[in-house]
Amino acid sequence: MRFWKEKRLLLGISGGIAACKTPELIRLCREAGATVTVVVTEAALQFVTRTTLEALSGGPVHGDLFAPGGSMEHIHLGRETELVILAPATADLLARMAAGIGNDLLTTLLLAHQGPVLAAPAMNCRMWRHPATRRNVALLQGDGLHLVGPETGTLACGEEGEGRMAEPPAILEAGRRLLTPQILAGKHLLMTVGPTREALDPVRYLTNHSSGKMGMAIAAAALRAGARVSLVHGPTASSPPSGATAIPVTSAREMAAATLGLWPDCDAAILTAAVADYRPATSQAQKMKKDGSGAALTLELVENPDILATLSARRAAPPPPGSTPLPASPLLVGFAAETGSALDHGREKLRRKGCDLLVVNDVAEAGSGFGEETNRVSLLWRNGREEHWPLLTKAEVGERLVAQVAAALATTGAK
Ligand code: C5P
Repeated sequence: MRFWKEKRLLLGISGGIAACKTPELIRLCREAGATVTVVVTEAALQFVTRTTLEALSGGPVHGDLFAPGGSMEHIHLGRETELVILAPATADLLARMAAGIGNDLLTTLLLAHQGPVLAAPAMNCRMWRHPATRRNVALLQGDGLHLVGPETGTLACGEEGEGRMAEPPAILEAGRRLLTPQILAGKHLLMTVGPTREALDPVRYLTNHSSGKMGMAIAAAALRAGARVSLVHGPTASSPPSGATAIPVTSAREMAAATLGLWPDCDAAILTAAVADYRPATSQAQKMKKDGSGAALTLELVENPDILATLSARRAAPPPPGSTPLPASPLLVGFAAETGSALDHGREKLRRKGCDLLVVNDVAEAGSGFGEETNRVSLLWRNGREEHWPLLTKAEVGERLVAQVAAALATTGAK
């Protein structure tokens, strides 16, 4: 993950049972390329050993405010870091922070540190709900502390409730969002993602190979950049990124209805879904049976609505009398998966569908097919500008595309 390369993280660990998950967080951060400095409270070492933390972080574990030769550690450590992550942040740590107490290395360092701080609280659900904790969290958020979690589930004490520490990948993602420039802040992005399924009968359906990975990567990048994301998605194995408003659908007609309903409120729509162009003319209520005669079976298919073309036409058409006016210019981005002469097909499709940008890829090309982690795309803009990107990970394509969409929105001045 390029993003974390050379980023310096300071991980503060306080004394809760969730500290046993922190070694996994350190491993993830380092695997992503970040350097991790570990600072513990005295109680943290009751739950996770210094040896484990040193081995995984690849450096010394700091904890003693009065360590020989470490008299200014609370100032230096904070200065040398881009993000402080507190995982777990116990009720006691939050209380000391809220009161501005600096009675160990971690809390003193937090008083001296000026950059962003992300806390992953973890405690029993009654401790989390206690008025003192509520008050401390509200105070700290007012002071600019960012939170990830806690989540609801089974707690270490056996009770069910809110208080589980967020999982390490979610903590890392929340940290990444904090460090990402908010180029889509205040913007509402509408997306379609994945395949659709067109039922033949209760058992069978027509679909395609779309994995939804490209769309999910764009949604993740947009969320990190501060956008609100409405994600209308067909049945896919890829999960919507946390923070997106996911609207699961099955058929093309359901996808069209959900998308058209959300369209008037968005600043940009990126339609990555591989919508089935046709559906069976009739879907049987009972499972179709073979009659054993060996005769060919003919299916009659009818065309599905083209969501992209419909949105484009609505944008161009004046609003009907008495209707709520449509926003001035939602930016409309389409995707085209082609096999052979991809650019020629793409240029023709851009004109026919009337979008602002068409992202074209040749799915027959190595590394650009369905379900791959990489993609090689070309951007065809309505004004004739074309860009041909090298083979990139889908995550990188998502980031670059979000940057392009943000730049385009800035120039069109969409609401
Ligand atoms: O025609 P084709 O399927 O190649 O067009 C691709 C673009 O059009 C994609 O952005 C896709 O999401 C969109 N599309 C749509 N509704 C359809 C078919 C395609 O929105 N019925």
